[in-house]
Amino acid sequence: MSRKKIVAGNWKMHKTLEESMALTTEIRGMVRDELRGDTQVILIPPFISLAGMARLLEGSAIAIGAQNCHWEDQGAYTGEISAGMIKSTGATYVLIGHSERRMYFGETNEQLAAKTKTVIRHGLKPIFCVGESQQEREDKTYFKVIEKQITEGLFHLDRKEFSSVVIAYEPVWAIGTGLTASPEDAQEIHHLIRKLVANYYNEEIADALSILYGGSVKPENAAQLFAMADIDGGLIGGASLKARDFIEICKAAR
Ligand code: 13P
Repeated sequence: MSRKKIVAGNWKMHKTLEESMALTTEIRGMVRDELRGDTQVILIPPFISLAGMARLLEGSAIAIGAQNCHWEDQGAYTGEISAGMIKSTGATYVLIGHSERRMYFGETNEQLAAKTKTVIRHGLKPIFCVGESQQEREDKTYFKVIEKQITEGLFHLDRKEFSSVVIAYEPVWAIGTGLTASPEDAQEIHHLIRKLVANYYNEEIADALSILYGGSVKPENAAQLFAMADIDGGLIGGASLKARDFIEICKAAR
């Protein structure tokens, strides 16, 4: 299978500029000295660190991404950041629809669909996040929930546009809680996502799609998760803030 293995560190609202530069320097050295194979490592810091980190990472294989982006190209949207601005920093990826954005900032599938389109138009790659809540898991409606998130958020894209998409499955109940989905439970959802994509686009596109798992991934559980057939890497929160833990997770993605 030719699809890319990816490990992305979502730093959320952590790290000042100075701290970001220090952590990046540490991770850059470890990636250079210890990481073999072709896993794509992505660092996703707060906006203010993107440009500085891009300079620090020149000549390195590590990519950087933003945590959010507006759907309009510019305008009177105080406090927002556009895809063009993100692109100008040297970033190449953008997280879209993280559950914290959906939950605390009321982002809807419709807005996320618009953001995804804009990001792709600017030549950036969206990492589109989906996942069910604890209640939806208990009610056993999680298949439907994820199907809706994917259908409404992504299926307006044509085949060419969709080929730059990465999907991250992050069950909300596993984020920052220390509870991880079992490799089998995660695999079930990843397989479902790939099937949805195969049915809507085609097998080839589905086969090339990288689907990342996120939610309390740690050095201790990463290898088992990444060994599953449809899990192509991870989106890491807490453990991505420690260089040693993060690099060990990156190594597990081979
Ligand atoms: P944790 O790894 O801290 O559970 O966070 C996962 C996440 O939300 C990554 O985007």
